[in-house]
Amino acid sequence: MSLNTADVARKKVLVFRELPPDQLARLRSRHEVTVANPRVPAQLPIFHAALADAEGLIGSSYPVDAALLARAPHLKVISSVSVGVDNYDLKALAARGVMLCHTPGVLTETTADTVFALIMASSRRLVELANLVREGRWTRNIGEELFGWDVHGKTLGILGFGRIGQALARRAALGFGMPVLYHNLQVVDVAKDLPALLGKVSAASFDEVLQRADIVAVVLPLSPQTRGLIGAREFALMKPGAIFINGARGAIVQEQALLQALDHGTLRAAGLDVFATEPLPLDSPLRTHPKVTALPHIGSATLETRHAMAELATSNLLYALAGQRPPAVFDFSAIS
Ligand code: DGY
Repeated sequence: MSLNTADVARKKVLVFRELPPDQLARLRSRHEVTVANPRVPAQLPIFHAALADAEGLIGSSYPVDAALLARAPHLKVISSVSVGVDNYDLKALAARGVMLCHTPGVLTETTADTVFALIMASSRRLVELANLVREGRWTRNIGEELFGWDVHGKTLGILGFGRIGQALARRAALGFGMPVLYHNLQVVDVAKDLPALLGKVSAASFDEVLQRADIVAVVLPLSPQTRGLIGAREFALMKPGAIFINGARGAIVQEQALLQALDHGTLRAAGLDVFATEPLPLDSPLRTHPKVTALPHIGSATLETRHAMAELATSNLLYALAGQRPPAVFDFSAIS
């Protein structure tokens, strides 16, 4: 499908997070564009003023709630440069009839790479041991107290078996000989859709994944159903010495319960790309915890993937403003 903009009038577009110059130029060639980052105090008044006329918004990582929508009476479409839509009040958008677009697909492999990197880093203590070299503490061969834990052959439990969960399973099962258990609300037809994984991955109940996996990875979307899903009960179900990985959203995990499990439970380590509050507050105990490998929400943060996300998000917005169906519209029926 090609974009037909021949007779599309120029519309007011508000860009609320930096876009690469080529994508900004695409937008500017067709519409009147204001760039204002509401997280920068000096730009907030410009952002609010532009909302009053905007028909399209494009950006990410900023909460869009009913109060913000009330400032944008002409808004028709929001194009999020993210696959996750947890920053948007979906009910308020649906009630106003504002279309929401996002960027599924283009970040799947990169995000699965990040989650697998966290598995490797947490199990093999890569950051801790790299720091030992960097800080000049490698003065003799390391002893058993610094040995890591094998990844290959361990059972990986995946909570959420959508695109990213499946890409993670491929890495684990085909690359590292790991038996994979997964839990997903929708049934996945492995024989039909993932034939290479047949016999290597098995569906299990939520509790069974927690109880049987050596390494548990969360790759679920954040929703009212998953907020706070992993707490004291779930950590207590996990195997002694298990590793916990979160590559999804921080709010899925009760961080106090995670700290308890690290300090007083038997959790071996945690690898976290996401946190309840981001950027992670300086006084968060997770920032410097010796058993935690913490990353600054970099799931999709490679040059190639972030550009692909910006390109898809820009296309989504251009199609929507031209009255054509965008390539990736969020389906509100998924929330009812
Ligand atoms: C996404 O696309 O949802 C990533 O987590 C970036 O926010």
